[in-house]
Amino acid sequence: MSNPASPPAVGVVDDRPPLTFPPGFLWGAATAAYQIEGAAAEGGRTPSIWDTFSHTPGRVVEGHTGDVACDHYHRLGSDVALMAELGLKSYRFSVSWPRVQPGGTGPANAEGLDFYRRLVDELLGHGIEPWLTLYHWDLPQPLEDVGGWPARDTAARFADYATLVADALGDRVRYWTTLNEPWCSAFLGYGSGVHAPGRSDGADAVRAGHHLMLGHGLAVQALRAARPTAEVGVTVNLYPVTPASEAPADVDAARRIDGLANRFFLDPLLRGSYPADLMADLAKVTDFGHVRDGDLATISTPLDVVGVNYYSRHVVAAPDPDAEPEPYWRAPSCWPGSEDVRFVTRGVPVTDMNWEIDAPGLVETLRRVHEEYTDLPLYVTENGSAFVDEVVDGQVDDADRLAYFDAHLRAAHEAIEAGVPLRGYFAWSLMDNFEWAWGYTKRFGMVHVDYDSQVRIPKSSARWYAEVIRRNGLAAQ
Ligand code: FCB
Repeated sequence: MSNPASPPAVGVVDDRPPLTFPPGFLWGAATAAYQIEGAAAEGGRTPSIWDTFSHTPGRVVEGHTGDVACDHYHRLGSDVALMAELGLKSYRFSVSWPRVQPGGTGPANAEGLDFYRRLVDELLGHGIEPWLTLYHWDLPQPLEDVGGWPARDTAARFADYATLVADALGDRVRYWTTLNEPWCSAFLGYGSGVHAPGRSDGADAVRAGHHLMLGHGLAVQALRAARPTAEVGVTVNLYPVTPASEAPADVDAARRIDGLANRFFLDPLLRGSYPADLMADLAKVTDFGHVRDGDLATISTPLDVVGVNYYSRHVVAAPDPDAEPEPYWRAPSCWPGSEDVRFVTRGVPVTDMNWEIDAPGLVETLRRVHEEYTDLPLYVTENGSAFVDEVVDGQVDDADRLAYFDAHLRAAHEAIEAGVPLRGYFAWSLMDNFEWAWGYTKRFGMVHVDYDSQVRIPKSSARWYAEVIRRNGLAAQ
């Protein structure tokens, strides 16, 4: 894991990294369809819930939409050339459901599939491994109109869509992720409503979470039927949840939020059951009557890999018994049944999202998944940070983003040394893009995008990452 034992030959520059990753470690970067493609009404694509949501006044900051985004749909060739220049070994992208199956039912749209065929061929031509995510939040609007994810039938529709994509791309794509971050789809989409489709009902959020996982299980089976050699996984966003103090009430608040944020998904997916304490916490929200016999067996269909997205930690405290009910108490929450748990800030450095920077949390998270849930190979399918960038003389020196990546890669290495079978890491994101409810106001990219000219400028972090990939590790601090 560390330096080779023998010294370099005399006269040879020793640039051996002090932290080397295992051979074949998959270095990548990630994006998602709605965040970069644009071409919202081209090539037969029809609206998704994010088109509807972003075009609804007041939903997205400054009224931004993904209509044009990074115009990646028209710039596929030069964008892949840029990835090759950075030396990426893999590129994680998502397929837009309404682009390849307009409306979410019925036959495939050949023009939509052709776009992804060209993308995949271009990647393979540059020696970049395509990593395909089927669902990164862009549900076809007609499926939302008949109930969306709280409706059971959406799970079956998702499996049909998976088959359609596997039939078209299965011969050239090895790695498949069913869902990206079902917590966000369920609890931000149907709980707090800050994401599309913008509904706020705790019971619906819980149903959505279940049907997303059911759709995942059915899609895994569909993918395996279509392509027995596919490597199939799911991506969950996980947070260590720490109590603000050792007081039993704070510890209990942490247990509740950990249940909703992490175990709601990890337990059904990897153990085939919902945690009893989580079900008790949710008793006043739902009776779980939507769970049918056999669902949990489908949901826990064996996987080949598990993807983990990691950004930050939650620190929480018990509800304040003396607090007057503030408006936020009544506001829709993404924590049904635990709305009054307080999220505490510790005063540690934060990113432009106001998310605390906590690299040790990545070690904790990866170890937990491995030690408590599974021996499967793990991949960090997203990790990154938003900071305010400045273009100076055509350059972007994003020292803070670079430091974030550096710290988290050191954490990833520490996890490997602790025995975690971590096989790859995908930076979020390849380029600045449409950051959901924040529109274009938050920049996560290693590559800067000027949204007027669509000019791409690799930031310092991109140049640094290219060097990390070249070395298969990190240089001295
Ligand atoms: C994750 C999403 C991704 C991006 C990052 C910042 O939750 O999967 O699309 O928005 O956060």
